[in-house]
Amino acid sequence: MTASGDREPQPAKKLTIPEIRARRGGVPLAMVTAYDYPTARLAEEAGIDLILVGDSLGMVVLGYDSTVPVTLDDIVHHCRAVVRGAPRTHVVADLPFLTYAIDDARTIEHAGRLIQEGGADAVKIEGGRDVAPRIAALVRAGIPTMGHVGLLPQRVGELGGFKVQGRDIASARALLDDAAAVAEAGAYAMVVEAVPAELAARLTERASIPTIGIGAGAACDGQVLVSQDLLGFEQRTAPRFVKRYAELGAAARSAYAAYAADVRSRTFPGPAQSYRMPEDALRALEETIG
Ligand code: KIV
Repeated sequence: MTASGDREPQPAKKLTIPEIRARRGGVPLAMVTAYDYPTARLAEEAGIDLILVGDSLGMVVLGYDSTVPVTLDDIVHHCRAVVRGAPRTHVVADLPFLTYAIDDARTIEHAGRLIQEGGADAVKIEGGRDVAPRIAALVRAGIPTMGHVGLLPQRVGELGGFKVQGRDIASARALLDDAAAVAEAGAYAMVVEAVPAELAARLTERASIPTIGIGAGAACDGQVLVSQDLLGFEQRTAPRFVKRYAELGAAARSAYAAYAADVRSRTFPGPAQSYRMPEDALRALEETIG
């Protein structure tokens, strides 16, 4: 601990797949999203266990109203920046909408780009029993794969909005079956999104792999939050499951306003932000140009 009570920055060591699997029922995994070099670097310096280059990129960075328009090229591009910023952190990259819809071969090709070009350690895929054969194909091809059950943001149109899943008995049972299929197919961990805490606890108890919750209560084997939500950078109303650990959006807005006021009043730049010419060169310049 530092004198101020902060945790000393930890020298990061990238978690391996077996180490992540072994965290089931152990010390919870702390995961955040990142889409750029500076955020990834800060997350690594803070000792975050896993970074997700999520397709939430579309909503919190690119300004879309869902994750659906995000492309494979978008994720590859942002993943490269994240890996440069956090070379010693386990990085997971999202397979965006439709990149795993057609067949196993194209799914492997797309996931391969995230690993080879993006530099990700693993990919994440949304879905349950429906995508289990794709997960099995990816794992057979040697691509570590994280599942994602519960609320599936890529299906937001079909679901009629970002809604809590598994609240009635039929959908709760379906969700347990989805989670079992994802684990059975060979995923090494799975995100569980927007699920009642009681159901997520039972799902976690039955799962053979770690669960990483977002809006899924405290019983999961880890938690993930979108960095822009956690840091208070996000303009939209945050979902109930978000806890803000900072108010960087408000801080940034007042910094921009103060800068604009300083520019308009010629208070910025001041002497401290200006370069000076040596006296003799200045005199010579004045003699030359008058
Ligand atoms: O894209 C994303 O940020 C995610 C999280 C919500 C888990 O999938």
